[in-house]
Amino acid sequence: MSMEIDFTGKVVIVTGATRGIGKNIAENLSVLGATLLLTGTDKNQIKAMNKRLRCDSRTKYFYLDLLNDKSIREFLSDIKSYDKIDVCINNAGINRINYIYNISTKDWDEVIRVNLRGPFILSKEVANIMKKNRYGRIVNIASIFSVITREKRAVYTAAKAGLVGLTKTTAIDLAPYNILVNSVSPGFITTDLTKNILGKREMTRLKSSIPLGRLGAPEDVAGIVLFLSSDMNSYITGQNIIVDGGYVNI
Ligand code: NAI
Repeated sequence: MSMEIDFTGKVVIVTGATRGIGKNIAENLSVLGATLLLTGTDKNQIKAMNKRLRCDSRTKYFYLDLLNDKSIREFLSDIKSYDKIDVCINNAGINRINYIYNISTKDWDEVIRVNLRGPFILSKEVANIMKKNRYGRIVNIASIFSVITREKRAVYTAAKAGLVGLTKTTAIDLAPYNILVNSVSPGFITTDLTKNILGKREMTRLKSSIPLGRLGAPEDVAGIVLFLSSDMNSYITGQNIIVDGGYVNI
């Protein structure tokens, strides 16, 4: 077993890597030597980011909108030009909060498409590549709302609980091929997503109900994601690891 985390020579996909948790995971992977295929939803931003990278850079940004099947097809065809994919981190996610009696079918469909159907399609595609190499790591970013819930979280909880279910079966299906599949479930992490959904007042209130006394930062999540994506993880598969400062236990 490897006793250090090293991604030299590994080809790693991170979806939704332009900000928040995904961006932090990607930055750490880059420092650890990974060849990175990163995705975002803003075409101009992707263009600008690729321009800023040197030609010999190990990192490339791709446009991927999980609400747009054409962009999914294009991304899947782009990744086929790499000889292998070692790691896939399904991080892209959205949230729409509303009471069950008010959720629109459009919001339901969009959250399920991005948070559940997207990881399914990517997992299926990379599984076929990883199987050939008999090596792989898939990490799905779920949420504490996969195991607990609160008001107005019906669609988010349904999608994230679904993602945890998908993780478990995928882990079993791919175990014979040395592909380890896990999910990581963050609690309250300070990113654009949380700021938009919760607002400042609710974030201050929440702090007092988190045993570690603070909201999480993206780097609090990145550590376990890097571990599960690396060769240091040789025997954990099909698990959902909660990273929440102790919140779900009280
Ligand atoms: P964020 O809003 O800061 O970033 C989300 C990323 O997903 C962005 O890079 C964006 O480009 C991408 N994305 C958004 N819509 C997309 C679409 N239609 N197709 C493809 N990509 C799309 O969010 P954050 O907080 O960094 O969240 C990352 C993941 O962590 C999400 O899956 C989220 O559900 C999960 N999470 C976040 C928590 C938090 O407190 N921030 C808590 C628990 C889970």
